[in-house]
Amino acid sequence: MFNFGVDYYPEQWPEERWTKDAELMAQAGFNVVRLAEFAWSRLEPEKGRFDFEWLDRAIALLAGYGMHIVLGTPTASPPPWLMAEHPEIFRVRSDGTRVTYGHRRGYCPNNLVYRDYSRAIVRKMAEHYSGNPAVVGWQIDNELGDRCYCPRCALAFHDWLRTRFGTLAVINDRWGTVFWSHIYTDWTQIPVPLTIGGPHNPGLALDYHRFCSDSYVDFMQIQNAILRQFCPDHFITHNFMGFVYDQINQFDLSRSLDFVSWDNYPQMQWNMKDAADPVKASLGHDTMRGLKRSPFWVIEQQAGPSGWEIVSPAPRPGQLRLWAYQAIAHGADGILFFRWRTAQAGVEQYWHGLLDHDGRPGRRYEEIRRMGGEIQIIGERLVGTKLKPQVAILLSYDSRFAFQIQANNPSFRYETEFLKLYRALQELKISVDIVSPEANLQDYKLVFAPTLHVLDGQAADNLSAYVSNGGVLVVTPRSGVKDEANRIVGCPLPGLLAELCGMEVSEYDSFPEGKTNSVRFTIPDLEGTSSPKVDIWADLLHPTCATVVAIYEHDYYAGSPAITLNHYGTGYALYMGVFGGQDLLLPVVRWLLQKAEIPLSFQGPTGVEILKRESDGRILIFILNHTGDGQAVDLPGVYWDLLHTSLIESPIHIGPYDVSILEQQG
Ligand code: GAL
Repeated sequence: MFNFGVDYYPEQWPEERWTKDAELMAQAGFNVVRLAEFAWSRLEPEKGRFDFEWLDRAIALLAGYGMHIVLGTPTASPPPWLMAEHPEIFRVRSDGTRVTYGHRRGYCPNNLVYRDYSRAIVRKMAEHYSGNPAVVGWQIDNELGDRCYCPRCALAFHDWLRTRFGTLAVINDRWGTVFWSHIYTDWTQIPVPLTIGGPHNPGLALDYHRFCSDSYVDFMQIQNAILRQFCPDHFITHNFMGFVYDQINQFDLSRSLDFVSWDNYPQMQWNMKDAADPVKASLGHDTMRGLKRSPFWVIEQQAGPSGWEIVSPAPRPGQLRLWAYQAIAHGADGILFFRWRTAQAGVEQYWHGLLDHDGRPGRRYEEIRRMGGEIQIIGERLVGTKLKPQVAILLSYDSRFAFQIQANNPSFRYETEFLKLYRALQELKISVDIVSPEANLQDYKLVFAPTLHVLDGQAADNLSAYVSNGGVLVVTPRSGVKDEANRIVGCPLPGLLAELCGMEVSEYDSFPEGKTNSVRFTIPDLEGTSSPKVDIWADLLHPTCATVVAIYEHDYYAGSPAITLNHYGTGYALYMGVFGGQDLLLPVVRWLLQKAEIPLSFQGPTGVEILKRESDGRILIFILNHTGDGQAVDLPGVYWDLLHTSLIESPIHIGPYDVSILEQQG
C-alpha cells in the first residue's frame, strides 16, 4: 500500500462536521491520517486528568472510512496549566531572555519536570492506543529544535562534558583555555555560550551546539522507549525539517526511528521575493532519504498558500500534485498533506489546507483527489522501488555548527555553497545521495565533500580509503581546517586531507564583499571553458604531487594554482580552492562525471527533473516539469506511461507543472 493522506485536527472543528470530512478524505483516495500532535490541552485538560474519548471517536470514524492513523505525541506545545505552574520549563534563548507563553516549542528539552510530564502523557497515550487496530504508528513531538541556554542546560552540559571527557584537565586542553586565562578549576565555572557574552571559545561553543543537538536526541529517545515498550507493533517517526534545519545533527536524530518523515513547503510566505525553487525541495528530499539511506515520508506536504502574518503566492494549478510526485520521485513512500482544512483561528489562519476556511472542496482538493485516483492505480508499482545514485554529497553537521560560530567570511554560508554544487548536479539530471562523512561510500563513483571544515581521523581515513579504492572525491575551500575539538590543525591545510589531495594551501585570501577573481583552466579536458568568476575566498595552492587544473587570473597571486587534481591509489582527489557559480561548477562537474565514468543518462531543459526509481527488473522514470510551459524530453526506448496507461516513445511531451511516470519496457 502506498501511504497517501492528510494531517487532520478534529479537535478544531465541530464533531458534526467530522463525517463529512472523512467522506471527502475517502473520496480523495486517502488511506492515512495524522492526528493529535498539538492536542495536549484536550488530551490532559488538567494535571493528571486524561480525556481520550473525543480522539477515540475521531479515530473510530476515520477508521470506518478506511483510514490508518498516525498519532503525534503532543509535547511540542504544552498546555498553559503546566507552564503556569512550572515557568522554569521555558527555554532560554541565546541572548539570555526566557521564552514566555503564547507560541509553541517553548520548552527546554533538559528540564526534568517537563520530561516527567512528557513521559506521563506519552505513556498514557501509548497504553491507551497500543491495542487500537486503526493506529499504525507515531510521530514524536513536532519539528524538534531550538537551542536552550537555561541554568538547567548549564548543569546538563557539565554532565555531558564529564561523561565524554572525564576531567577538567582534558577539557582545558581540548579548548585551549589558557588563551585569555580561561582555565576552569570547577565544573560550575563553565558557562553556556550566550551571545551577549561576546564570541566564545570556539571549542566550548561547538561542544555546546553538539550538546544541544544531543539534548533533543535524548528527549526524543525518552518518548521512543515508552512507545517501543507499549506499542511494539507500531512504527515510530518524527517530522524533520529537511536540509535547511541546522541546529540538530539530523543523522543522530534519525538513528532510533523506523523511518524519517519531513515537512515540505516549497512556497513559504517568508520568502516573497522568489518563486518556489524545485531544486531546494529536491535537496530536502535527498537529505531526508540520506539520513537512514532509506525511503522516507513527507508527513506534511504543502496543500495551498502558506501563511502566518503574510500569505504566500498561491501554488499554480498542478503544482501541489507535482510537488507531491517530486517527493515520490526522490524516494518518498508516504505523502500526507498539511493540512486538511484551513484553520479559522490561531497563528496559522492563513496556512491553507486542501479545503479553504469554508470547508468546501475546491481547486486544490480536486487536484489532489485526481492524484489520489492515480495513486490507487500506480501505488503498487511504486512500492519497493528505490533510487540508486552513483554520486554523493557529504553533509557535516559539525562543520555546519562550526561555521555558525565562525563564518570565516560574511558572504559565506555553508548551505548556499552546498546548494550550488547540488544545483549543478540537478542541472545535469544526476541523482544524488546526501550522506554523512563517516558513511560507507563504496556505492558511489563520485563524492563531493563541500567545506568539510571540522574533520576527524575517522572521516579522513574514510575518504582516503574511498579514493584509494578508485573513487573520485572533490574537496572545497576551508576543508580539514579544524579537528573535532574545533582547534585549527597544526599542519598545512587541508590538514588530514593534504596527502590525499597531493597539495598544500600555502596562503589564503578572504574577499571583501563584492570582490571577485577569476580562474583559467590549464588542462586539455577543460580548455576552451571561459574564465569563470570566483568569489568569497581564495586558497593559494602548492601542489606536492597533484596536477594543476586551474590558475588564478588576477591579484598578487595571478598564475598560482586554484584547482588541483591528485591521482591517489586508483582514484582521484580534486581540490577546489575557490567558490563560484554555475559557470565554474558545471564544466568541472561535467568533467568529473566523465572521469568517474558516470553517463549523463538523461537530458532535458532546465526546470525539468528526470529521476529513476528501480527494483529488481523494474525501472520507473519520473519526468517532472516545474516550469509553466510545455516541455519535451528525449528518452531512448519504449515506455509504459503509468498515468495515461498507454505505450509511449520519444519525444515525451509534458504539460506545464505536469508529471509523467514511465515504466521501461523490455
Ligand atoms: C510545520 C509544522 C506544522 C505547521 C506548518 C505550517 O513546520 O510542523 O505544525 O506549523 O509548519 O506552519
